[in-house]
Amino acid sequence: MKKLIDLITEEMKGAFEKAGYDPELGKVSVSNRPDLCEYQCNGAMAGAKLYHKAPVAIAGEVAGKLAESRVFSMAEAVNPGFLNLKLREDFLSEYLKEMAASEKYGLEAPEKPKTVIVDYGGPNVAKPLHVGHLRSAVIGEAVKRLCAYVGHRAIGDIHMGDWGLQMGLVITEIRERMPDLPYFDPDFDGEYPEDAPCTVEDLSEIYPTASGKSKDDPAYRERAMEATLKLQNGDRGCRALWERIMKISVENMKEIYDSLDVHFELWNGESTVQELIPGMLRYLKEKDYMHLSEGAWVIDVKEESDTKEMPPCIVVKSDGASLYNTTDLATIMDRVHKYAPEQMIYLTDKRQDLYFEQVFRAARKSGLVPSETELVHIGFGTVNGKDGHAFKTREGGVMKLSDLIADTCERTHDRILESREMPEEEALKTASIVALAALKYGDLSNQATKDYIFDMEKFTSFEGDTGPYILYTIVRIKSILAKIAESGTDLGKAVFSVSRSEAEKSLMTDLARFNAVIEAAYREIAPHRICAYIYELANDFNRFYHETKIVTEEDEEKKSGWIALLLLAKGILETCIGILGFTAPDKM
Ligand code: ARG
Repeated sequence: MKKLIDLITEEMKGAFEKAGYDPELGKVSVSNRPDLCEYQCNGAMAGAKLYHKAPVAIAGEVAGKLAESRVFSMAEAVNPGFLNLKLREDFLSEYLKEMAASEKYGLEAPEKPKTVIVDYGGPNVAKPLHVGHLRSAVIGEAVKRLCAYVGHRAIGDIHMGDWGLQMGLVITEIRERMPDLPYFDPDFDGEYPEDAPCTVEDLSEIYPTASGKSKDDPAYRERAMEATLKLQNGDRGCRALWERIMKISVENMKEIYDSLDVHFELWNGESTVQELIPGMLRYLKEKDYMHLSEGAWVIDVKEESDTKEMPPCIVVKSDGASLYNTTDLATIMDRVHKYAPEQMIYLTDKRQDLYFEQVFRAARKSGLVPSETELVHIGFGTVNGKDGHAFKTREGGVMKLSDLIADTCERTHDRILESREMPEEEALKTASIVALAALKYGDLSNQATKDYIFDMEKFTSFEGDTGPYILYTIVRIKSILAKIAESGTDLGKAVFSVSRSEAEKSLMTDLARFNAVIEAAYREIAPHRICAYIYELANDFNRFYHETKIVTEEDEEKKSGWIALLLLAKGILETCIGILGFTAPDKM
């Protein structure tokens, strides 16, 4: 379906043409004086210079051509030459009728669906997920769902940090504590124990301890590097231990991501592409894409137009080890080979902006990725506490993601019980649904690149620009519809009718914008646009609701129109929150 704004603009262009002016002057925008009109066109102002005529005269002539318009109920030429516009109620209700009957509320399928890989999550094995991982998971999931909704094939890859020195450190520390484990016995040729020698909780202490020791103790660091190398070279014991650590870590990650309703199609990581690295290095050397610089193999990525420092992309360190960059290049190559994606979107902290610029350029320069494949990095800002510094626990430590989720559930649980009585089991279930909305909306409603302040009180509030407010609105619509259905009305028979109040018309206009909003959010990879849209929609719905006695309305035609409107509003709100990655309860 065409976008409402495009239909309006077409009508206006036609009028300019009929009046003898360049149709391109007929651009229409949403009014910045909603007290006077709904839309406006400033084309006559631009036309004045072109046609050496007073703008208001041109506007007047164009308005004359719109007297019989099927789109505008009002087209008024006002000084100094604006066209103030209002939509016809029947045009709007016809549009909504068509939307409601169309598969995705009027959103057109892409001409050619793309394969898009979304690289998000990015947790590191052996390190507990902390609040910093929230954004990657939440934004990435929304971006992936948005791509899929629009009609693309979207594949999410968690891309774990599961290789390299961090693993060598963990292995070394386990060895210090339990030297007699068979993993460390070079002569052991039996079956290794099935279970990991430690728990995930242990790991979350082991890694920082090892990392601390390696900084103070060069011999320890040496041992960790050795363990890393052994693992990379396929040492049987190291490999077996690594696998057991992976198993418990991945189980733990799955649990946390599940609780966030975040799901990955691919559970790949840095380790996945290790076998591809030697071949890739050979290719890069043979084709002269990389050269030696101070002992390291690098790809120059500086371009003449660069205004900022652009160091070369290091592919192999001087000690022969591969690194984060190497894995990312090999991963790009692997994805191209396996999925031939048209686009790869990466979500990490914006401190990796330069890093990804280097990697993308290196991949392009060396032909690891076809020139038409789009590589996009979305660097997001930090989650801060109210003091403006990175979000911490009350004691000043790093906030674990699982604790943050639990705290939010606790708060929404309290809020629910403040506002209504509910059996405990239902309250707990509802609290976790509402908490997810609070967390995700709190994050997504900010433009990704910006830092934001994590404000538990604000995020969990049932009022204002929050997730719970959006849910509250959906719950309200559900409950009105349920009441009407209970009284015996067949909701499926509802027919749209024309709006009868300004509030109703605003609501209808909001609904009609759905396809344009989704298109823009997708084009700009900007889930916050969907948040802004549903917030406005919820506000307009609530204004309409407070003015209108829906359930007790006697006029059948009116009531039927409202039911149709409510069903559409519910469908659109639920679709939008589905894209954002949360759901609404039946009651709250
Ligand atoms: N594990 C990385 C980190 O914690 C994030 C991974 C992002 N994805 C990638 N392909 N590099 O910073």
